[in-house]
Amino acid sequence: MDDQQFRQLLDHFGYSWEGYKRVRKGVKKRISRHMHQLGCTTMEKYLHSLDRDEEARKYCECLMTVSVSRFFRDRFLWKVLEGQVVPSIVEENRKKVRFWSAGCGCGEEVYSFKILWESLRCRLDPMPELEIWATDMNPVYIKRAHDGIYPLSSLREVPKELRELYFVLDVDEGLYRIALNLKKGILWKVHNLLFDLEEFNFQIIFLRNSILTYYKDELKRSAFRKVMGCLAHGGVLVIGSHEKLPIESKDLMTFGGQPHIFKKIDDLQGLRHNH
Ligand SMILES: C[S@@+](CC[C@H](N)C(=O)[O-])C[C@H]1O[C@@H](n2cnc3c(N)ncnc32)[C@H](O)[C@@H]1O
Repeated sequence: MDDQQFRQLLDHFGYSWEGYKRVRKGVKKRISRHMHQLGCTTMEKYLHSLDRDEEARKYCECLMTVSVSRFFRDRFLWKVLEGQVVPSIVEENRKKVRFWSAGCGCGEEVYSFKILWESLRCRLDPMPELEIWATDMNPVYIKRAHDGIYPLSSLREVPKELRELYFVLDVDEGLYRIALNLKKGILWKVHNLLFDLEEFNFQIIFLRNSILTYYKDELKRSAFRKVMGCLAHGGVLVIGSHEKLPIESKDLMTFGGQPHIFKKIDDLQGLRHNH
């Protein structure tokens, strides 16, 4: 499949060339295999069968997803979360904190957050109850996240002492298993961000390296508005370190000058702050 055909596919879905450019080789391979399975010899024929067959379309959408991630991806961000963001959220929500990882991939950022939370116990005890929602549109990734088994390469930013505390090495396989106690209290769910989540009022939402990278503006905005609707007032939104907000929002202020962390405020508060 050449780039022109691949771009045809991206346009069909409303996905972004910029987002897929670097990862297109693997995606193209998966899609070519699917085209072959469906007996489609051209992109036109493939798109036509996706339009007629809902199952094939859904399958293709999953093949288009990219799960590249690692624990504590963007190390600097995690330092800010640990030093300022999470302590301030805990301060404002003494009873319960609800966290949503939207587009959680295979769970690396979810368990990273849980590790950070546990590490803060010695400083901020008693910690509030923590409820975690972790969603992704690809059921295969949700299953992997639930299993919690990772190669060493995913752990390269995990300090040695945390690795020893929260991972168990399976020597035969050369893989690391998440410790059982870290798995508690996480609700894994297949969910597409283009549709409403029935939950809301989250104090922290991670929306990193998913729709804001891989979608074109129109889809980005529509999914982003839905996600924003789930963020509690005073809640914090974290986006990827190469991403920016798809809309101008008076409700969002950068947190501590960090360009990828935002706090949701009400409009009045925003006006007070700006004057
Ligand atoms: C590169 S991973 C990012 C994982 C993690 N958030 C991180 O930053 O490391 C992107 C994930 O977004 C998911 N994704 C993409 N579009 C989605 C959508 N519309 N709804 C839900 N998940 C989506 C993909 O399935 C994939 O698992």
